[in-house]
Amino acid sequence: MRLLLYRADGNTAPWVRDFKAQLPALDVVEWSSRIDASACDYALVWGAPPELLAQLASVKAIFVAGAGVDALFKFGDGLPDVPVVRLGDAGMGVQMAEYVLHAVLRYFRRFDDYENQARDGVWAPLALEEKQAFTVGVMGTGALGTRVLDALGHFGFPRRGWSRTAKHIDGVDCFAGAGELGAFLAGTRVLVCMLPLTPDTNNLVDRAVLEQLPRGAYLINVARGALVAEPDLLALIRSGHIAGATLDVFRNEPLPSPHPFWGEPRISITPHISALTVREDSVRQIVGKINALERGEPVADVVDRTRGY
Ligand code: NAP
Ligand code: GLV
Repeated sequence: MRLLLYRADGNTAPWVRDFKAQLPALDVVEWSSRIDASACDYALVWGAPPELLAQLASVKAIFVAGAGVDALFKFGDGLPDVPVVRLGDAGMGVQMAEYVLHAVLRYFRRFDDYENQARDGVWAPLALEEKQAFTVGVMGTGALGTRVLDALGHFGFPRRGWSRTAKHIDGVDCFAGAGELGAFLAGTRVLVCMLPLTPDTNNLVDRAVLEQLPRGAYLINVARGALVAEPDLLALIRSGHIAGATLDVFRNEPLPSPHPFWGEPRISITPHISALTVREDSVRQIVGKINALERGEPVADVVDRTRGY
């Protein structure tokens, strides 16, 4: 059995080592012009070029070394019609919970204001926010969004979630679809974007959406940069409608310099690190799925092409 491996960052050696340890029967080959990818049973890719994808029409599945599949689906018909299997959590959920909790607590406890005060040598306790009015709304209640909602629950924040289809999550006010978006936004003090990037979600968080949040709301985007209309966000931060944003992802990455976000003190920037792929957990999950597929069993996290996630 042969797995074709491609990573745009070239960091393949530890992956080969982990596969060898966990599934010795699997022959892992790295893609190069000398490799005939069509002779492989499976592929595992991250950032694959179209010329590689074109060779994968006969693999049993293309595994993606991440949760998001937008970088593959952007090729449209250039992506062969074989099952695409993404990572389901695989160690990313807890990282997302850490990241989002940190950002929510920073705003709720006004650590951002205290950082500014300290820079100016000011010693001045500030009024506490009322927790019951500090509702956190998570857009996307999938594998990672539900993990974040669960973590927020331990700190007593009022929680709401918005998804494509209706959900029931204990202790969370659930909203679904375009028809309930307005109601979801109206009571949300911190908006957390955890949606996949699809044609439906591209630029979803624009001026019209942000203006439905209460004045003084915050935005945290840990999903994909293209979900947010960046000029609209900037304008609403400058007008004071949005009090601050914590952004891990951007339309163009690395975030170019110059970009107005770099100079905006109310925007906190991290370089797409909110949930990194955990190699060992990922290899374990993919090995489990390969074994299941070989036994003819169904596997989780197969991407639905019509939905795009
Ligand atoms: P997931 O399990 O597929 O969950 C996606 C959620 O989004 C689901 O609740 C889905 O609704 C909802 N959704 C999709 N399209 C929608 C629409 N048009 N309107 C309303 N809701 C919609 O995905 P996940 O594993 O939680 O990952 C989410 C995203 O996080 C990934 O796609 C990736 O882009 C991003 N990510 C970023 C990082 C990072 O380091 N920054 C790391 C990992 C992942 P239903 O439940 O109704 O289907
Ligand atoms: C990272 O951004 C991922 O989608 O796993």
